[in-house]
Amino acid sequence: MKALILSGGAGTRLRPLTHTNAKQLVPIANKPILFYGIEAIRDAGINDIGIVVGDTAKEVEDAVGDGSRWGIKVTYIKQEAPLGLAHAVMISEDYIKDDPFVMYLGDNLLKGGIKDFVDEFHQNTPDSQILLAKVRNPERFGVAEIDEGKVVRLVEKPKKPKSDLALVGLYMFDKSIFKAVKKIRPSWRNELEITDAIQYLIDNGYRVESHIINGWWKDTGKLEDMLEANRLILDTLKMKIDGIVDSESKVEFKVVIEKGAEIIKSVIRGPAIIGKNTKIINSFIGPFTSIEHDVRVENSELEHSIILEGSSILRIGKRIGDSLIGKNVEVYRSEKRPEFYRLMLGDYSKVGVF
Ligand code: TTP
Repeated sequence: MKALILSGGAGTRLRPLTHTNAKQLVPIANKPILFYGIEAIRDAGINDIGIVVGDTAKEVEDAVGDGSRWGIKVTYIKQEAPLGLAHAVMISEDYIKDDPFVMYLGDNLLKGGIKDFVDEFHQNTPDSQILLAKVRNPERFGVAEIDEGKVVRLVEKPKKPKSDLALVGLYMFDKSIFKAVKKIRPSWRNELEITDAIQYLIDNGYRVESHIINGWWKDTGKLEDMLEANRLILDTLKMKIDGIVDSESKVEFKVVIEKGAEIIKSVIRGPAIIGKNTKIINSFIGPFTSIEHDVRVENSELEHSIILEGSSILRIGKRIGDSLIGKNVEVYRSEKRPEFYRLMLGDYSKVGVF
């Protein structure tokens, strides 16, 4: 069995971050989202992984390498444009050949791994196995209509969803999917939709099995979802302090402080993670915060946020929350007169002031 991870795409919902970064490499609890997927696939016993890459190919390849770090073999498959999930399958046929395979969306996170689903697929040998999860906002997902326990219809982002069952970003296929992706036509958004390809299988008598999952699953394509995924993963951390915490600081609840980090005259209230060589001075870091390496936080308060490498947050009078701050960003209280906001923001940035 092989695996295909989709790590191309446009990432429009996470601009401006995705102008310069692959969204699949945004760290959740200081580890790129994509790595959780790779590890889940490896733990299911699959060692041969194809990664579909787009404009951010170099960044993904630099981060993942040849896979030897995980004891797996990685093959990169270049998609010239984000023409849809089914298009990504189509261009991967030479790599997959006749093998059954798992398709995993590189920005998805599934708690509890994928081994049980892969084992079930092996045992039942359907043409395709899909996973469904109950969601509050089905109109944002591919939605399944079920009749007598069988999937009868799949609709991509329906305006009026007929069920609350969303397609999870983990699919299992045999080679019949290659026939299906060649038969379908692009949708109104000009993408070859995987829902249409699976619908083709259903309509043509192939066996498509579905499974409703109970554990949590997150599609991290939007900021709120990414923060929620961060919260869920941070909650599973165990206290580990490898950095320096001075005698005037307090570290409470589940906190990870990586090597070389320094906590000076500050309070860190977990669950939280502070990356290598980051300095927290005279500050408060509240629950559900991930701070990557080489960040400086001084005289500021932060909670429920993700801060990427190399950034600095200095002398901010109000607490920063619900935020995602990119690499090498500077947020500071200006000491220059006259008093006004001095901003230099990239396209599609979002700033909320109060
Ligand atoms: P999506 O999140 O559905 O699409 P997107 O990345 O284009 O994001 P947005 O809607 O915000 O513009 O994609 C799910 C995953 O599949 C994600 O990891 C990107 C990847 N993908 C590809 O590799 N190729 C594609 O053609 C598409 C559409 C997505």
